Amino acid sequence: MTIHIEVLKDLDLLYAKGLAIIEAKLEQGATTFGLATGGTMLPLYEKIRASSIDFSSCVSFNLDEYVGLPATHSESYRTFMRMNLFDAKPFAKSELPDGLAADVEAEAIAYEEKLQNAHLNFQLLGIGENGHIGFNEPGTPFDSTTHVVELTQSTRQANARFFNSIDEVPTHAITMGISSILRADTILLIAVGEKKRRPLEALLKGDQTTEVPVTALQDHKNIIILTDLDI
Ligand code: GLP
Repeated sequence: MTIHIEVLKDLDLLYAKGLAIIEAKLEQGATTFGLATGGTMLPLYEKIRASSIDFSSCVSFNLDEYVGLPATHSESYRTFMRMNLFDAKPFAKSELPDGLAADVEAEAIAYEEKLQNAHLNFQLLGIGENGHIGFNEPGTPFDSTTHVVELTQSTRQANARFFNSIDEVPTHAITMGISSILRADTILLIAVGEKKRRPLEALLKGDQTTEVPVTALQDHKNIIILTDLDI
């Protein structure tokens, strides 16, 4: 396990560091970027928008998308990405799983194929409170590729804050699998706030277990963690 961890209590510095890591990757020639959604990423995308970064010759792949939300829905991940990043910083091409595909299982397989052909130089990652990455919930095999998942009640509850009520939170999503994520050359994991302490501790100090999906990262060769938590 090669983990480079930086604890930054000052969130402005933490996100400035995140921006600097992405800029450095671009300078080193990275062209394919795996992107993430979630509240954790908002300040990072704000910094990217205000920067001079140019992704116009790069390709992006998002980790996941809800099943059944129209692309124009304010909480679809496509809308999230457009509003927070793509409108200001367009990529040559931006891929997200299509949560409205008639056959979502086939869509997951097609997405995985695109991903494997592209090969990610970089993957941005948050963590769920239960240790999920992307939408790989506890119990997901580490060799999983892009697939359709049923979201746990706790994940739907955690994401209900973005909807009018929990009933509106989709029950399923399409997510890159754990092995899809692990293939990226470099992974930048951002964990901010006390709710992320347990999964982060499990990654850094715990045994590897599918019950805490983020512990799969212990097998990766190049992980950078930015956190405000003393661990
Ligand atoms: C969602 C996303 C994850 C994200 C997690 C944490 O479930 N699918 O990719 O890491 O939420 O979100 P937040 O940053 O809002 O805590």
